[in-house]
Amino acid sequence: MFDYFIEFYKRLDRQGPGDDKYTEMAFRLLENLPPNPRILDVGCGSGSQTLALARMAPCEITAVDVYDCLLNKLNENAQKETLKGTINTLNASMFELPFEAAQFDLIWSEGSIYIMGFEKGLKEWKRFLKPGGYLVASEITWLRKDIPAEILDFWNAAYPEIGYVSKKLSVIEKCGYRPLAFLTLPESGWQQNYYDLMETQKQHYLNQYGHVEEARQVVESEMELEMSLYQKYKDFYSYVFYVMQMV
Ligand SMILES: C[S@@+](CC[C@H](N)C(=O)[O-])C[C@H]1O[C@@H](n2cnc3c(N)ncnc32)[C@H](O)[C@@H]1O
Repeated sequence: MFDYFIEFYKRLDRQGPGDDKYTEMAFRLLENLPPNPRILDVGCGSGSQTLALARMAPCEITAVDVYDCLLNKLNENAQKETLKGTINTLNASMFELPFEAAQFDLIWSEGSIYIMGFEKGLKEWKRFLKPGGYLVASEITWLRKDIPAEILDFWNAAYPEIGYVSKKLSVIEKCGYRPLAFLTLPESGWQQNYYDLMETQKQHYLNQYGHVEEARQVVESEMELEMSLYQKYKDFYSYVFYVMQMV
């Protein structure tokens, strides 16, 4: 069956809020990586962060997602530039990663660990890290107390694991990692880098598929609600990059 949802998302350069500058900042905090680190990028999408990592270091990245069209786009984009690192894409699920234990120096997950759940992801992926390996995951996080009921209810229904930084740091410790840093994605990472591009894409997409009810629903239901709630409540939540090292 034709998937209108993925048809929309595959046209975007990223499939969630983000910012290459923050990917770079988080990466530069990892002081003891080997010269040619092996990196696993989980839920890479079309790979904006994969490319940002491969631009920075002579690394060897395995980029995993469940959609071939996104992995193909990543491969096409990787071929357009001269990167320091190499990228190998793999269609596999984060729930059943097909790797031996202790293979990677670093696991990277931007805007994707929520699919598995933050705690479960940290626990299950740990075995793929070499001793002392690093994990960086961006996770939706509350930034303020006094959260209005409308947005509290929305996120509690969409992702019950949403929490404050303090809660996430305690989960990191509980799962056997040392928290090294956290970085909060600024508004530009949501608005300019993501929602503005979605708006532009929406027009092209509706021109092509607007006559199909199912296609219209993809953009007019959840997507528009999420964007309008962000406009109203952007002070209250963001993605936060959590940088940690296996103990
Ligand atoms: C919100 S997007 C983030 C993509 C990318 N990291 C970014 O920030 O642009 C989540 C990604 O997880 C992928 N995904 C969904 N379920 C997955 C699974 N079971 N295993 C691996 N990836 C999955 C989706 O295809 C999508 O590309």
